[in-house]
Amino acid sequence: MKTDKIRSLFLQFFKEKNHTIVKSSSLIPANDNTLLFTNAGMNQFKEIYLGYKRNQTSSYTSSQYCIRTGGKHNDFNKVGYEPYHHTLFEMLGNFSFGEYFKETSIIYAWEFLTHKKWLKISRKKIWITYYYKDIETKNIWLNKIKIQPNHLITIYDKNNIKYHSNNFWKMGDSGPCGPCTEIFYDTRKNNKEKKKIKNYNELKKYCVEIWNLVFMQFNQIRSKKLIKLPIPSVDTGMGLERISAVLQKVSSSYETDNFIKLIQSIKKTIKIKSNNYISLRIIADHIRTATCLISENIIPGNEGRNYVLRRIIRRALSHGYFIGLHKPFFYKLSEFIIKNMTQINVDFNISSNINVIKKILLSEEKQFYQVLKIGMYKLKKEIIVNQTKKLCEKKIFHLYETFGLPIEITKDICKKKKISINFQKLNQIIKLNKQKQKKKHTQKNQHSSCLIHITKKSIFDGYHEYIKKSKITQIIYKNKSVSYLSEKCVGILVLNITPFYGESSGQIGDSGKIINKKGTFIVNNTQKNGNFTAHLGYLKKGILCVGENIVAKIDSKKRKRIQSNHSASHLLHAALIKKFGLNIVQKGSYINNKYFRFDFMYNDNLTEKDIQKLEIIINKKIQKNIKIHAIITSFSRAQKYNAIYLSSKKYKNTVRMICINNFSIELCNGTHHESTGKIGCFKIIKYKNIGNSIKRITAITGIPVIHYIQKKINKEKKIQNLLKNNSNDIYKSIKKLVNKISYIKKEKKDLTNQNISQISKNLISKAYNINDILIIISYISHLKYTMLKNISDTIKQKKESVIIILINKNTSIIRFLISVTNNIIQHINAIDVMNIIFSILSGKGGGNKNIVKGKLENTNIISEKIKKMKKKIIKYIHENNIYK
Ligand code: ALA
Repeated sequence: MKTDKIRSLFLQFFKEKNHTIVKSSSLIPANDNTLLFTNAGMNQFKEIYLGYKRNQTSSYTSSQYCIRTGGKHNDFNKVGYEPYHHTLFEMLGNFSFGEYFKETSIIYAWEFLTHKKWLKISRKKIWITYYYKDIETKNIWLNKIKIQPNHLITIYDKNNIKYHSNNFWKMGDSGPCGPCTEIFYDTRKNNKEKKKIKNYNELKKYCVEIWNLVFMQFNQIRSKKLIKLPIPSVDTGMGLERISAVLQKVSSSYETDNFIKLIQSIKKTIKIKSNNYISLRIIADHIRTATCLISENIIPGNEGRNYVLRRIIRRALSHGYFIGLHKPFFYKLSEFIIKNMTQINVDFNISSNINVIKKILLSEEKQFYQVLKIGMYKLKKEIIVNQTKKLCEKKIFHLYETFGLPIEITKDICKKKKISINFQKLNQIIKLNKQKQKKKHTQKNQHSSCLIHITKKSIFDGYHEYIKKSKITQIIYKNKSVSYLSEKCVGILVLNITPFYGESSGQIGDSGKIINKKGTFIVNNTQKNGNFTAHLGYLKKGILCVGENIVAKIDSKKRKRIQSNHSASHLLHAALIKKFGLNIVQKGSYINNKYFRFDFMYNDNLTEKDIQKLEIIINKKIQKNIKIHAIITSFSRAQKYNAIYLSSKKYKNTVRMICINNFSIELCNGTHHESTGKIGCFKIIKYKNIGNSIKRITAITGIPVIHYIQKKINKEKKIQNLLKNNSNDIYKSIKKLVNKISYIKKEKKDLTNQNISQISKNLISKAYNINDILIIISYISHLKYTMLKNISDTIKQKKESVIIILINKNTSIIRFLISVTNNIIQHINAIDVMNIIFSILSGKGGGNKNIVKGKLENTNIISEKIKKMKKKIIKYIHENNIYK
């Protein structure tokens, strides 16, 4: 049975059971920053599970694209190596909110799997697990389904930690969760099937998990704290690729119809016959994920989702490297994905921007090969210099961390060159670093993670009002809800109504004060997640309690500065589109009280003139003092107005539209001025290409523009003073100076060349001739390496058979350079000479037969040592009968 057929059968089955079919939601969870990516079919229903939202319909079914490469559910390292794991996969699911619960969902699952109208799987092949406390589920399997008792396995908590079990499913560190019962398919061939499966380990060994039925009963609000959900609900998930493997009787999901087609197309496109199936599987898996993520407007980068995408691409490229692909290839593969992943029930468009996807991938690949080139050079140098058979693990990690050389590639090269690595030590270093990163990440996200402790909603009423009477509804101190906050304590206040804007839409959170007669709380920042708003800060004086009336006052001066920047960012966005057309796609923004950044995708580069024109357009709009209106409307109506919106963001039905005439209409929840005049003035201070056709404009507004110009003028005056120049044309004066410098540089070079030639002549005149081979060994202090090389090259141009040894002391380090002409290297080469030198003074060095360089142990009697070296070389030539 083909994969596409299985998907449609599943949806049809649940449609017949009165479920509404919904589209796979976006890979980026809407309004939920507890998740990096959509990791399960239930994500799009999170608010219904939690009881925040009620829908008329109460049962749904979908085939959801999921990504499990981070957070609680992370399969990244298993992909390619294990038969059934993917970074991106489709999850078939049915969901019920109060309509039915355990019994019906188990009966449905059983019917779909075993009934002859549907998948016809033999009941003998099925094994079941259940959570040890969920006796109701156990009884349903035994009494209603009549499963053989020995096919039912009890799963306990891990390490005796409550609800920490394979059969207690959690969406993330917070959110809906509950006990689950998992359905496994026995993959053993019939004759071996006799052996009874006794425990979970054996189950994992002989079977593949195909369907997970979760009974959502709790909301995890913090670690170890679970509260009951308003209505017990059902969430099930069956990996489409896995059930396909089962029905197609193959031993991994990479051998199912769709994956076979994909892998064949990859082999054809990259013209490779490699049978390294792990690398091919990884490339096949990763191109699906990378293509879909870029379709969702995620671009490779160094943080969060963008970093996950970069990691996925780089891993695929490393595996390409293993199978001999040393030039960009990955970008070509996205075409197949776009043509073939045509699942209609997807809430994002994979096919619309093929060229953009290819361009982004190609640019990332080019960057990777550049990184690889530098990293490989460093690695090879390391191997040659140390002439080593063992590579220090710290060095491997350094090559990865500093030069981006993937550890897998270093390992592979070392394996080929028979260089040993202590993997235990290396893993230790990686682990330590991961812990360090995690700590850094946790510290950075401390504020947003504290949002998970908030249970009371706040209404935002601060678009026009900066001071508001309100009430404290919750206080959080040290990750716990408390009834009061004492003086000097850092904590979070939650208010029923607030004028404080919580960080979102690229705009930073407000700061200010929350006060009453008893206490003063200083708000340093405001964070929000959906309707939850956290006022983060500390109690400057007094005491504040839950339930008390307070006055909330935002720092209005700061807010007005933020508003100037936010409104100006809309003007900039509109001006860019007016000037360069709809090719401009916003890729993010960051707005604070000092400046704002606007990132956008555009295939061409902006010129200095373009930047100036933008500044003029925007300043004209500011001067016209146009009214800025905020209109609440429906998303479809906003689309009719051609409002600008972020395609990567999911909007609710009711949206807020910010209109500056017809010039700029944009969906936005941020705070704005009432008219453009309040912005004052606008200036772009930086324009930068940040990679992958993404440009970044940084701009300022209002008084900071004046400060900026004043600073520039001051600087100019200082330069004028420095140049002792009274003329106004500072450019002309600097140009004159630059010309003068290049003249002096040239003069110096000529002098140096003369100098080199003089030194070379001198050295030749003092050379020792033995069997018509000249030996030049000299101690030259205070010269740079490049100069030594120039001297040896000059000598080689003049003399045919020569061994040059230049020893140099610059600081406390003694360096050397050995150069031997080509015609004698088969008898005595630079490495031979180096070894002779090392027999007198120990050191380190490397290079090739013609030229080596390195360091020598520091000594005060260098001239004596040099004499010895010379003698030894002469002896070597004599003993080996070397003639020119
Ligand atoms: N949400 C459940 C899972 O992902 C069904 O396994």
